[in-house]
Amino acid sequence: MEPKYAACVVLAFSLMVITTYYLQPHGVVTDATQTASLSLNASQSPAKKISQRMFGLAFEEINHSGAGGLWAELVSNRGFEAGGPNTPSNISPWTIIGNEASILVSTDRSSCFDKNKVALQMEVLCDVDGENICPAGGVGVYNPGYWGMNIEKGKRYRVVFYVRSLQPVEMSISFIGSKDQKLATSDIKDDNVAEWKKVEMVLEAYGSDANSRLQLTTSKRSTIWLDQVSALPLDTHNGHGFRQDLFDILAALKPGFIRFPGGSYVEGDRLMNAFRWRETIGAWEERPGRFNDVWQYWTDDGLGYFEYLQLAEDLGASPIWVVNIGISINEQVDTSLIMPFVQDTLDAIEFARGDASSTMGSARAAMGHLEPFDLQYVAAGNQDCWKKNYRVLGSYMKFYNAIKGVYPDIKIITNCDASAAVLDHPADLYDYHVYTNANSMFSMAHNFDHASRNGPKAFVSEYAVTGGEAGRGNLLKALAEAGFLIGLERNSDVVEMASSAPLFVNVNNQRFNPDAIVFDSSKVYGTPTYWMQHLFKASNGATLLDSTLQSPSSLTASAISWTDADSGRSYIRVKVVNFGGNRLNLRLAIEGLDNKSIESAGSTLTTLTSTNVKDENSFNEPKKVAPVINALKNASNKMTVIIPPYSFISIDLQRKSNVIQDAESNGVHASL
Ligand SMILES: *[C@@H]1O[C@H](CO)[C@@H](O)[C@H](O)[C@H]1NC(C)=O
Ligand SMILES: *[C@@H]1O[C@H](CO)[C@@H](O)[C@H](O)[C@H]1NC(C)=O
Ligand SMILES: *[C@@H]1O[C@H](CO)[C@@H](O)[C@H](O)[C@H]1NC(C)=O
Ligand SMILES: *[C@@H]1O[C@H](CO)[C@@H](O)[C@H](O)[C@H]1NC(C)=O
Repeated sequence: MEPKYAACVVLAFSLMVITTYYLQPHGVVTDATQTASLSLNASQSPAKKISQRMFGLAFEEINHSGAGGLWAELVSNRGFEAGGPNTPSNISPWTIIGNEASILVSTDRSSCFDKNKVALQMEVLCDVDGENICPAGGVGVYNPGYWGMNIEKGKRYRVVFYVRSLQPVEMSISFIGSKDQKLATSDIKDDNVAEWKKVEMVLEAYGSDANSRLQLTTSKRSTIWLDQVSALPLDTHNGHGFRQDLFDILAALKPGFIRFPGGSYVEGDRLMNAFRWRETIGAWEERPGRFNDVWQYWTDDGLGYFEYLQLAEDLGASPIWVVNIGISINEQVDTSLIMPFVQDTLDAIEFARGDASSTMGSARAAMGHLEPFDLQYVAAGNQDCWKKNYRVLGSYMKFYNAIKGVYPDIKIITNCDASAAVLDHPADLYDYHVYTNANSMFSMAHNFDHASRNGPKAFVSEYAVTGGEAGRGNLLKALAEAGFLIGLERNSDVVEMASSAPLFVNVNNQRFNPDAIVFDSSKVYGTPTYWMQHLFKASNGATLLDSTLQSPSSLTASAISWTDADSGRSYIRVKVVNFGGNRLNLRLAIEGLDNKSIESAGSTLTTLTSTNVKDENSFNEPKKVAPVINALKNASNKMTVIIPPYSFISIDLQRKSNVIQDAESNGVHASL
């Protein structure tokens, strides 16, 4: 912040009778109404442009955000690899249907896929007739998916599996609901499966159940091998495999970028388990999958490097690939041996950006994407700055030099914090992570006020209020984070991008609390942190207006000028966070904008608050704490707006355009 602003804060303190807000326990709301004022100049020049990618998403494979989440694959452990490469192995969560007198199930290494050799063997001992008749419904195996599959009436699902048997096979493939009711079924009969054979079918559901399972059964005596069993709804986003409701909730944020695939997931606890892009491309059946040893679950890697790039493209977000540079949480590759890792990274960039005739670009084209992906950012590692091999022994520089040598335009992100000290190595951006309590987060609005204006810009790729006071994602957390983001916006000359973390959580695997978006097999809701981010989406590519705030320190504010690309309408947006228990009358004074040029019918006041600062959303009350938009009928360049205790508000003054107004402009413009 400019020194002028700091002086005003001091002035405000000396002029006002101030209760000690910051000592008040959260949630205490007092009757006193205080006053504050905010002045800004709408015609300020030169214009201060906020990055087009200022606010975006950090996607990490944590809490089943991908496997069992955004990736719509319904089958968990589809290749039977989760139990490890040695057989016999555990097939969890697959479950056997039938007792030992009727079926014996085991694993062996007979798969036709070289990188994932484990296959399932079912030795069916019972038969349609004779002494050992199979129980009604047959015997076999079922997969419950990730805490139940969401099967919906009228929807279609593509089921694919590989089968082999020396006898003719007769099998039923069905979705079964939680009350054992059949929701969809199809039978196959094949007497020519001596070699592995791919079976593909589309099942249409005639019933709904959010806790279903996929079942493969037979009543015929035979020995059947199964492998790579997949079930995907046909209605994924663009047919690209993303669960539509989870895609939509991300797209609604209009993210400027998406960082992937982590986080610590990039590093791995051990190198052998780290995300290796090359193992995640190509035919899904041939991907080995990995044990996500940081967050402790298996992933089949259906959501691989290609799919992440596709996701970014579908979201209209800039992909930010975080690459493992030979450093895991517990191990480091010797820098003298790092060159193969460097080459592997260059190959990955060529896979994304090379034309379809290049070696790696052709692998991408073969997956159906002829045009290059718009990869412009590569982050070298995650939270690795203080690992010995990163800076001191030079692994970072090997990556930096090699990438810049081939792709000079790619922006490289270092893990080392340049906000306080000058870096000892080149970088285009530096990664900055903050997890702290609500008060600290709110006061960190000033964190970048004194950062160097000359060095690389900040990528605040992970921020979150954590700890008991944040609950499972409450209003308090969202307000503190909103205050922090307002500070980032005010410092957008040195902060280029920011994203909260973690993004997603499957309620059935809440390993990190709190998260921005909560889901189960069939439902999803945003926490207040998610909704708070909606009020920032207009900032991407907007113009920052300097503003001077005179107020208690529990208030923070920023102002932008922005144009809605869809409607072509322009607005002045003032955002204010009240992180205290007092109501405030905020006097707003805007220079350089006269009343005649304000379209009051299109101006709005958006409020994010609740009766209790600890309030959260839930599946039953998904919008208990969500922005409420009201018309601002008396919009003018000088007005007083009431700021409720513990609230985040956005005042949007629509500017009259010079063109003839269309009738629609009399309606309230909903910018959410
Ligand atoms: C507003 O900004 C413009 C352009 O920078 C400047 O000419 C004008 O004097 C400013 N108005 C006030 C009241 O500061
Ligand atoms: C999400 O992951 C973190 C880290 O493993 C874990 O502590 C948290 O319990 C998970 N959340 C859920 C809902 O599983
Ligand atoms: C605009 O309207 C407000 C409120 O009606 C008034 O206080 C202010 O003086 C007006 N501004 C101008 C430039 O007329
Ligand atoms: C807005 O203007 C109307 C009519 O001019 C007036 O009745 C109303 O009290 C005003 N509201 C506020 C919040 O000033």
